[in-house]
Formats: sequence, C-alpha cells, structure tokens
Amino acid sequence: MYVCLCKNVKCHEIRQCVHDGADNLREVSRCLGVATQCGKCAKDAKQIVKEAKQERQQLLEYLPA
Ligand code: FES
Repeated sequence: MYVCLCKNVKCHEIRQCVHDGADNLREVSRCLGVATQCGKCAKDAKQIVKEAKQERQQLLEYLPA
C-alpha cells in the first residue's frame, strides 16, 4: 500500500528501512524521500516507523545473545 504518493513510497519499504537500521522518520526520509514534498504522509509514515521499530525490538529479543 502506498503511504507517500509524492515519492511513490510503500509501507513495506518504510518497514524495511527501519529493519535495516533507520531509527526515525528523518532517517527514513533521507533514505526514501518520504514526507519530503507535500508532507501529507508524515503522520502515517511516523506511525509506521514506530510500529516497525517495535517489531525490530521484538525480533532482537528473540535472537540468541
Ligand atoms: S504524500 Fe508524501 S510528501 Fe506528499
């Protein structure tokens, strides 16, 4: 599903960016360009980043030390 129509960024791309190490919307924006034009997607993108960070944290907890 598209989150950012201006930059053609999909939800899974934002999640992947976070799983690859981005920690906030600014870093995701630098990587994908999301929320850098009209800004209407910023709220949704921020929520996706938040959820993806939680998923990333849960995955890390399952990995052996
Ligand atoms: S919809 Fe993302 S910047 Fe316009």
